[in-house]
Amino acid sequence: MKDNNALVLALPKGRVYEDFIPVLQESKFAIKDDPKKSRKMLLDTKHPLVKVLIIRGWDVPTYITSGAAHLGVVGKDILMEKKEEEFVELADLSLGKCRLSLAGYDDVLSGSSRLKIATKYPNSSIKFMNSIGIQAEIIYLNGAQEIAPMLGLSDAIIDLVDTGKTLEENGLKEIKIIADISTRLIANKASIKTKSTIINEMMEALK
Ligand code: PRP
Repeated sequence: MKDNNALVLALPKGRVYEDFIPVLQESKFAIKDDPKKSRKMLLDTKHPLVKVLIIRGWDVPTYITSGAAHLGVVGKDILMEKKEEEFVELADLSLGKCRLSLAGYDDVLSGSSRLKIATKYPNSSIKFMNSIGIQAEIIYLNGAQEIAPMLGLSDAIIDLVDTGKTLEENGLKEIKIIADISTRLIANKASIKTKSTIINEMMEALK
């Protein structure tokens, strides 16, 4: 059962989780169970008033906005797709650094007034394409965007690039960096006031 006085920290599964868990486990908010083995979704920590919620990254802003969770760790790429007023960004954790980029075959931008863009970031994509005066037709894909141009599903992609290996192995070039991405700590607006002491303690410990 959830203790109503507890602070719930929402963590996403996947790459952000792998980066963040070592930081958390060295703090006084370490998860009690082995985080790699447990299938529990709401976990106790060494601090009696802090629990950790394990969910999908795309769901972190939803939990924070509603107040079901109070603090969240999430990639800037996801936050850019959400309305900023729904949460407060407290800190850049400087983890999970990568970039959101437009990629395709050579010169896909020159001479085009309209392009089909495969992406899971429709809002950021439309905003960027508008800014360079090209109309975007969004092909929403949940992953593996890099294969879409080769099979004729899209002209280009907008996706995260880290080492560039996925682009290279699928015959694509990084054409334009749209934004630098990293992992952020976000908070529910009301919780910043009602749980300020414990939030400040956590920010100090997770720096
Ligand atoms: C991400 C991203 C790219 C890849 C980039 O996918 O969507 O496909 O990593 O990394 P690279 O530049 O080092 O090759 P991820 O593996 O996280 O899976 P996803 O498609 O489910 O997001």
